[in-house]
This record gives sequence, C-alpha cells and structure tokens, in this order.
Amino acid sequence: MARKKIALIGAGNIGGELANQLVQKQLGDVVLFDIPQKEGVAKGKALDLEQASALSGADAKVSGTSNWADVAGADVLIITAGIPRKPGQSRDDLVASNLPIIRDVADNAKKFAPNAFSIVVSNPLDAMVYEFQRRTGFPSAKVAGMAGALDSARYQLFLAREAGVSVKDVRTLVLGGHGDDMVPIASATTINGIPVDRLISKEKLDAIIARTRTGGGEIVTLMGTSAYYAPAAGAIAMAEAYLLDQKRLLAAATLLSGQYGYKDLYLGVPVVIGGGGVEKIVDISLTGDEKAALEKSAASVRKVVDVVKSVA
Ligand SMILES: NC(=O)c1ccc[n+]([C@@H]2O[C@H](COP(=O)([O-])OP(=O)(O)OC[C@H]3O[C@@H](n4cnc5c(N)ncnc54)[C@H](O)[C@@H]3O)[C@@H](O)[C@H]2O)c1
Repeated sequence: MARKKIALIGAGNIGGELANQLVQKQLGDVVLFDIPQKEGVAKGKALDLEQASALSGADAKVSGTSNWADVAGADVLIITAGIPRKPGQSRDDLVASNLPIIRDVADNAKKFAPNAFSIVVSNPLDAMVYEFQRRTGFPSAKVAGMAGALDSARYQLFLAREAGVSVKDVRTLVLGGHGDDMVPIASATTINGIPVDRLISKEKLDAIIARTRTGGGEIVTLMGTSAYYAPAAGAIAMAEAYLLDQKRLLAAATLLSGQYGYKDLYLGVPVVIGGGGVEKIVDISLTGDEKAALEKSAASVRKVVDVVKSVA
C-alpha cells in the first residue's frame, strides 16, 4: 500500500515544523509547497529533513516544490500560506494580505487536490477557512480550521503548571473564534475528572484564561513573529485523527448550520474528526455566561467574514 500524501501549502515556519513532525510520526510522504520565489527554501527544508530522517530511520519522503502539479492527489492539505503577525498587529489586520493568497490556494486546491481533507491554519483563521470552503465548494466535512486545538493546548499547559500536575491529566476545551475573545469552557475543564475550580482559585483561573486568550500575542511580542511549534502540533493532531480514523473529539473551526444557534459561519466548536473528516459537530449545552461569550466571539468573526465577502 502506498504511503499517504500530505501537502503543506506554505513552507515557512509552521510549514517546516509540520514537515518535521510528519516525518517523525511517519504519517505519510510530505510535499512542501511554496511560491516560486521561495522554492529554494521549500526544497532546502525538504532535503534537510530527509537527511535528518537518515539518522532517525524514518522512511517517509519529503520534497519541495513550487509546482502545484506535485500536490496532485494529496490526501491531506495543511494550509499555512500567508503572512504572520508582527508585534502590535491583530490577526484581523492580516485580511488584506492573506485573502488573495487563500483565494489562490483555494483555486489550485480545487484543481489539484479535490479529495483531500483540508486543514486551514492561515490567519485570520475563521474568515480564511470560511473563504477557502466557499471558494472551493468542498464539502464542509472536508474543510476545517486549526485554532481550538492550539488554544486548548495553551490553556491546558498553563493549568497544568499552576496545579503542579502533568499536562496529560488536564482536559480543556476552548471554543469560538481564534481571537482574543475566544471562549474557554469552564464546565468542560477538569484535572483528571476533577472540576478545575476545586483545585485552582478563581483569581488564578481568571489570570490563566486571560493569558490563554492573548497566548499568541505573547509569543509574537517575544519573537517578532508568530508561534510555530504548537500551531504545527495542533494541525498534526487533526491530520492524524483523519489519517488514522481516530474519531478524536477536538475543538476545531467548522462550518455551522444551526448548531449553537449559528449558520453559515466557521466557528471553533467541539467536533469528532475521523476518516470521514469532520464526522460530527458536538452540540453541548452551554451556561448563560458561556453562551454570551460565544456570541461576542461569533460577532467578531462575522465582522471579518463580512469584510471578506465584500471583497470581490
Ligand atoms: N491558526 C493558528 O492557530 C495560527 C497560529 C500561528 C500562526 N498562524 C498563521 O499561519 C500563517 C503562517 O505562519 P508562518 O509563521 O508559517 O508564516 P511564514 O511567513 O513563516 O510562512 C508562510 C509561507 O507562506 C508562503 N506563501 C505566501 N503566499 C503563498 C501562496 N500563494 N501559496 C503558497 N505559499 C504562499 C510564504 O512564501 C511563506 O513561506 C500566518 O497567517 C499566521 O498568522 C495561525
């Protein structure tokens, strides 16, 4: 049986780290795609990773290209094409630069990889994944946005450090848009089943939630560009769930058709990802406060989507 083919659209910081994690996990052969001006970078990273795999013993192939024909027949597309934030910028400031890029990627994805499970990472995430699905016309089950996995992981880490327990024992769910008004769901936050508020004080919890919400910005301020190790790990969790039919329940941006009271909107909610893509949207009941926070977050996403829709 041939190995699965995973195409990474964008061979920048996240693209390179995605390729690294895919090779280490041996999830399939990897194609690192970038624009012609960056073809050397894509090819160079591919070669470097293949040489590393000679040491680690991984057999998966990695290639770099700027030719969409090399992406043909991909089983999974992970899209990071676009510009990342610089200090002082919000994700929404990236619409002007990243909208033409996502449209270009969508047109080529439709032509060359119509059967892939597509995971969009480019920001502003919820609007870019919306536009990618709208423009390709791919079934919404085959197009998801990566944000909830990352935001939930950040929350999980901060809680584990505060409680002095392993990250493995912390369960979190962060819903809503991938912006500073994302919604950590307190009722779904436990430490090995123990409600988190029994182990962490309200003041500490509030501070952790605030840090989670601005977790991306904290790293942009430190590095001058966006995070890439954890964003790559978030997208890998989704790709792995699809490729290995794991039926994982994760937070991911998905197209809503009435769930949580929203329609025609990509928003982060709990979904089950397996071999069919987004196989199920899990519609849990929320508290009044959680609903209000989700509404605020959805309104922010809708504002950006409206801008996207208004650009011909
Ligand atoms: N969803 C999330 O949680 C999350 C987290 C971090 C970063 N991001 C976003 O992911 C994106 C990528 O971040 P990065 O740090 O890897 O940026 P980067 O600049 O290192 O890499 C982006 C790459 O995209 C390439 N590119 C531009 N136009 C393209 C096109 N038309 N086709 C193919 N490739 C193209 C660029 O040449 C560049 O190599 C940014 O928009 C960033 O804001 C999202």
